[in-house]
Amino acid sequence: MTGLITNLFSGACLLALLSQSALHILAAPLPGAAADTDASSDSAPGYLSDATSWKFAGAMLSVPRSSIAATSVGHLALFAGGRLQNNSYSDVVDIFNRQTNKWTTARLSVARSEIGAGSLAGRYALFAGGFDSSFRPMSLVDVYDTETAQWSTISLNTPRGAPRFLDLGETTAIIGGLSGDLQYLSRAVDYVSADLKISNATIPSAYPQFGVAVSDRDCGIGLFTSGYQNNKPGERFNDFQPSNQSTLFVANDLSASFSQAPAFPSPRWGAGGAASNGLFAIGGGHLFGDGTTEPLTTVLDRVDLFSASTGQWSSTPLKLSVPRDYPMVQAIGDYIVFVGGSDVSKDFDILDTKSGSFIQGLKHRPALYTLRTDAAAATIDDCLMIIAGGLVNQGRNATASVELFNACRT
Ligand SMILES: *[C@@H]1O[C@H](CO)[C@@H](O)[C@H](O)[C@H]1NC(C)=O
Ligand SMILES: *[C@@H]1O[C@H](CO)[C@@H](O)[C@H](O)[C@H]1NC(C)=O
Ligand SMILES: *[C@@H]1O[C@H](CO)[C@@H](O)[C@H](O)[C@H]1NC(C)=O
Ligand SMILES: *[C@@H]1O[C@H](CO)[C@@H](O)[C@H](O)[C@H]1NC(C)=O
Repeated sequence: MTGLITNLFSGACLLALLSQSALHILAAPLPGAAADTDASSDSAPGYLSDATSWKFAGAMLSVPRSSIAATSVGHLALFAGGRLQNNSYSDVVDIFNRQTNKWTTARLSVARSEIGAGSLAGRYALFAGGFDSSFRPMSLVDVYDTETAQWSTISLNTPRGAPRFLDLGETTAIIGGLSGDLQYLSRAVDYVSADLKISNATIPSAYPQFGVAVSDRDCGIGLFTSGYQNNKPGERFNDFQPSNQSTLFVANDLSASFSQAPAFPSPRWGAGGAASNGLFAIGGGHLFGDGTTEPLTTVLDRVDLFSASTGQWSSTPLKLSVPRDYPMVQAIGDYIVFVGGSDVSKDFDILDTKSGSFIQGLKHRPALYTLRTDAAAATIDDCLMIIAGGLVNQGRNATASVELFNACRT
């Protein structure tokens, strides 16, 4: 807890705290004090800054599948559920432990689709919501406790599929998703505190939005932005458009709050994002054209940067080496790594948040071994990135293959 507060008062994270009084904030008080779990007792080992020296290893999931819900917590990465080759849904959870270097398996309480995944308080992995076999949104949250190695369940206030996650440190916000009612896109927010109590709020944005959620856990700051919104909520026909709405979430000991952030500069579908050092990078995605004078779909190489220290989007976007739609984006130390997301490149794009630019001259190292779409990614201890499952063979076949990129110093 001390570490978190120290970080909030230092450098990159400062603005978000100051802005709490400067902006009009809708506060959502959380029940009870956070349980005193000491997440910082065994800290991450640091990462190798020379990306060409990252070690590669392969592994296999217990069952081939795509659309897996993935998260990491403690020294574990968990890959839960997903779609099997025959299109039915899996309840299998494959778990990798970086300390023992071993894979184990567990099961979700219910196999389902469109599960949201994230971590809480350096202790819990959460698998929230989804759709049941009749395509009804669910409120079920499967919880794995890394301290007791036990599974339990809690419940969202609002059932929904594919909710987004912001791990804010001692609080995790579970945002939006597909609600299955007339509004279709949910405005609901459930906050889970470190004692697994849930409280809720509603985002008062102009339109319900299915955005990209990116958090910087060390700063206790999260951004919900981009994605798409419904311009005709409650009407008979939805009007889905790429969204520029941005909401900034800030955690403190007992509460989390949110406020409107500056508009996302380049609304588009299918972007991905991650954050490090208070720098939030949202990259890739696609735009739809009319199909005659312009192509039906244009995949983008654009990367937009939001700085927590200025509270602004950069006016000069960066460029990926290739256009990427639905890229996997992970933070490794000071780096933000973009990988996959298009069927054209195995190469990584690595953004150094210290310099604000992409690393040049990587010469295909590190690189993916197997091109894949709809894969899952999680990073353990801020240094071991794992890419698991997905579709290969032009999207025809679910794969069990796993790739581990080890940037850990020890
Ligand atoms: C799909 O495959 C799984 C695993 O092979 C099997 O258990 C399940 O019964 C299959 N489902 C259908 C609908 O065929
Ligand atoms: C909390 O959730 C309940 C149940 O979905 C809902 O009726 C209520 O409006 C929500 N409260 C807020 C503040 O959004
Ligand atoms: C955000 O998008 C809306 C349309 O949804 C548009 O009216 C508005 O001007 C945009 N805001 C900015 C700052 O670009
Ligand atoms: C790959 O996909 C094709 C087309 O769906 C299917 O017929 C075939 O059985 C799959 N192969 C494997 C190994 O799953």
